[in-house]
Amino acid sequence: MIVPGSASQEVAAALASELDEPLAAVEYDWFADGETLVRVPDADDRAIVVASTVSDSAHVELLQLQDAARQRADEVVTVLPYMGYGRQDEAFEPGEPVSARAMARAISTGTDRVMTVNPHEASIADFFEVPCATVDAAGRLADPLPDLSDPLFLSPDAGAIDLAETVRDAYGGGAVDYFEKVRHSDTDVEIRPNDASTAGRDVVLVDDIVATGSTMSTAIDQLSAPERVFVTCVHPMLAANARTKLATAGVEAVYGTDTIERAVSAVSAAPAIAESL
Ligand code: R5P
Repeated sequence: MIVPGSASQEVAAALASELDEPLAAVEYDWFADGETLVRVPDADDRAIVVASTVSDSAHVELLQLQDAARQRADEVVTVLPYMGYGRQDEAFEPGEPVSARAMARAISTGTDRVMTVNPHEASIADFFEVPCATVDAAGRLADPLPDLSDPLFLSPDAGAIDLAETVRDAYGGGAVDYFEKVRHSDTDVEIRPNDASTAGRDVVLVDDIVATGSTMSTAIDQLSAPERVFVTCVHPMLAANARTKLATAGVEAVYGTDTIERAVSAVSAAPAIAESL
């Protein structure tokens, strides 16, 4: 049985359909002090809790869903289509937590195993105290792309070059390159110019996540006379005014998966998750 988190209802329903498993009708109550109560009315031998931890309240809800599912099922599997705090994977200053590790430890207490989609770093899987598998949903990002002219698939930093290659391969052709990026703060990103010629070409920017949109909009500023610019990412967080930033930067279209449910979630990560479960 698939037990959906409230922020992951689309991907959970798609996964239920892929696996031909029923969906649990989770019920919610809210107390006057702001606390939430979830109820998992039914479960079978295996409960697959599907919840992207897109907010602090989604983290709390996940822990509750796991605990409720544990009382009804023999095996609890936790699918994190998007793992929040995954980018805080080291302590950058003395006294800071490794937040990804703290979250992973908490999530581990309520499950037999974990699966997560395109984590920021593969090594995040090691933070879990139960087996954790990672899934790559980037190949699907090529599906909504139109026919492209002399395409160039660009990642905004060296770390995302594999994703750009995956999308290029899934599209079926084109060049791949990347920018050098230096992050000064959450919203201040420096992208060094890249030698690849972009004039008259369709450029597809590929990254794991678009959060504030600073990385993508700064990368787009470096492109010289491209024909069209498309933005693709696995996790379309699109916080605050990120979507507007991309629109004003001249992006033709943004495509993401449903690991984070947004208007741009053009493809589902469910088939890739189903294949690995
Ligand atoms: C960083 O290494 C990631 O791959 C993304 O490039 C980054 O997190 C995107 O964040 P933002 O949209 O806030 O620039």
